[in-house]
Amino acid sequence: MLQTVAVIVLLGLVGFRGVKCGRTGKVLESVSGFSYEAINCRKHSASLTDFGGVGDGKTSNTLAFRKAIESLKQFESDGGSQLIVPPGKWLTGSFNLTSSHFTLFLHKDAIILASQDEKDYPVIPFLPSYGRGRDAVGPRYAAFIYATNLTDVVITGNNGTIDGQGSTWWDKFSKNELQYTRPYLIEILYSDQVQISNLTLVNSPSWFVHPVYCSNVLTLKLTILAPVDVPNTDGIDPDSCTNVRIEDNFIVSGDDCIAVKSGWDEYGIKFGMPTKHLIIRRLTCISPKSAVIALGSEMSGGIEDVRAEDIVAINTESAVRIKTAIGRGGYVKNIFARRFQMDTMKYVFWMTGGYGSHPDEGYDPKALPVITGISYSDMVAKNVTMAANLAGIDGDTFTDICISNVTIGPSPKPKKVQWNCTDIVGVTSVVSPPSCSLLPDQGAKACPFPTDKLPIEDIKLQTCSS
Ligand SMILES: *[C@@H]1O[C@H](CO)[C@@H](O)[C@H](O)[C@H]1NC(C)=O
Ligand SMILES: *[C@@H]1O[C@H](CO)[C@@H](O)[C@H](O)[C@H]1NC(C)=O
Ligand SMILES: *[C@@H]1O[C@H](CO)[C@@H](O)[C@H](O)[C@H]1NC(C)=O
Ligand SMILES: *[C@@H]1O[C@H](CO)[C@@H](O)[C@H](O)[C@H]1NC(C)=O
Ligand SMILES: *[C@@H]1O[C@H](CO)[C@@H](O)[C@H](O)[C@H]1NC(C)=O
Ligand SMILES: *[C@@H]1O[C@H](CO)[C@@H](O)[C@H](O)[C@H]1NC(C)=O
Ligand SMILES: *[C@@H]1O[C@H](CO)[C@@H](O)[C@H](O)[C@H]1NC(C)=O
Repeated sequence: MLQTVAVIVLLGLVGFRGVKCGRTGKVLESVSGFSYEAINCRKHSASLTDFGGVGDGKTSNTLAFRKAIESLKQFESDGGSQLIVPPGKWLTGSFNLTSSHFTLFLHKDAIILASQDEKDYPVIPFLPSYGRGRDAVGPRYAAFIYATNLTDVVITGNNGTIDGQGSTWWDKFSKNELQYTRPYLIEILYSDQVQISNLTLVNSPSWFVHPVYCSNVLTLKLTILAPVDVPNTDGIDPDSCTNVRIEDNFIVSGDDCIAVKSGWDEYGIKFGMPTKHLIIRRLTCISPKSAVIALGSEMSGGIEDVRAEDIVAINTESAVRIKTAIGRGGYVKNIFARRFQMDTMKYVFWMTGGYGSHPDEGYDPKALPVITGISYSDMVAKNVTMAANLAGIDGDTFTDICISNVTIGPSPKPKKVQWNCTDIVGVTSVVSPPSCSLLPDQGAKACPFPTDKLPIEDIKLQTCSS
């Protein structure tokens, strides 16, 4: 009797798995009963285990991921779909998200482990705005999670983890043993309505989150962790994107926490796609070797209308850093940053007009970047070695710089010159220590910060549940 019941229950479960999971929006018991916020909810759900996934941390799930995603594509224009990654450790090679109106959802105890085998990463063309791979000339390894030409794509979870297992990549990169540019952890190209949220991302081989040529991008509630001494592990790199909101993130990194980009020298100038209308809010950053927010060095398509506020930096090299060079062309304009709290910094403000680092010798030495309209206000920093190191370009002055209400406390061994300014013009107001002569005191007058709202701020997330 009991056995019969057991068999029936078991058959029922099997039926439930096979029929309902992939088709009608029900999911496995083991992963149901959760909710999350997203730009859109989905009609259809399936679990990775429906496609033969094994979460033991050893078995490769490359085929399971690829099959699951391929199968769910049928729902692209029927309410969309989500793939649920249940509790477990899911080792896999690189995979692509291929349907619009798609969510990749990680259970809180799900860990996706990136394969360390280069053969698990297809070699794909370099980005047109870069003209080559970032690490090496020529093509590059595809990102661990890669997507292109989609509308409404969400990667989220109840704070599940994606582990790039970057150690072998960092090691080989340092020893110059890699033929191609390292994979990014997540790269989304040419897509509209992108959300990456509520996840823990660790140990990317290189940059963590790279939206490029995208619009309407949200990156929310990410915990991004890399050792502080490993190469190029930028946190979030909005690159030639419009309308981006980066909110409530915690980033520890071996490179810039946020790096705003738009292509490289002659390739970026030709491609001509700026990053604009970007909000960065409530970020905590630890990056002893790099910046909280870097603008550039690849900025040849232009960077404009960046609004950064309510930011905490601890043991970080600099707050906002503008990096550019002769040959970059493009512009960095209308940049607003306010309400930063900082502790233990090498510089608070840093501009580097002579960053160098060209893709090749084909850059145009007459292509001078335009840097103008830079506004920093309401900041407090302590334990700082040098307040500001601001170097424009000889014959290409950086203009309209405004810094107000900033108090910078020195470290026990501060630099004698606290403000070093060349080839810049602007004003300051209520700053301490006193600024350089190129940024004269204009009296008690606050620097501007926009009061209008960007469209990306009005996007309301829905609560989705399974
Ligand atoms: C992902 O898509 C790119 C380009 O669309 C392709 O070159 C690559 O092989 C795909 N990756 C996988 C794992 O199929
Ligand atoms: C993706 O979109 C871009 C820009 O619209 C277009 O140039 C490219 O051909 C598209 N790629 C694919 C694979 O559809
Ligand atoms: C994020 O994950 C946490 C931890 O599981 C969960 O409690 C919370 O509801 C999630 N938040 C959103 C916005 O999905
Ligand atoms: C996610 O987990 C990390 C630890 O891995 C924790 O520090 C962070 O606060 C969690 N985030 C959310 C949104 O629950
Ligand atoms: C102050 O900064 C120095 C580096 O300049 C660092 O070694 C020291 O630990 C910091 N002190 C505190 C109290 O954070
Ligand atoms: C100056 O900045 C601090 C925060 O660093 C803020 O509390 C204060 O209100 C600001 N003062 C003015 C006059 O805006
Ligand atoms: C000030 O900046 C200029 C130009 O970048 C540099 O040559 C000089 O060494 C700097 N001086 C100090 C004291 O840091």
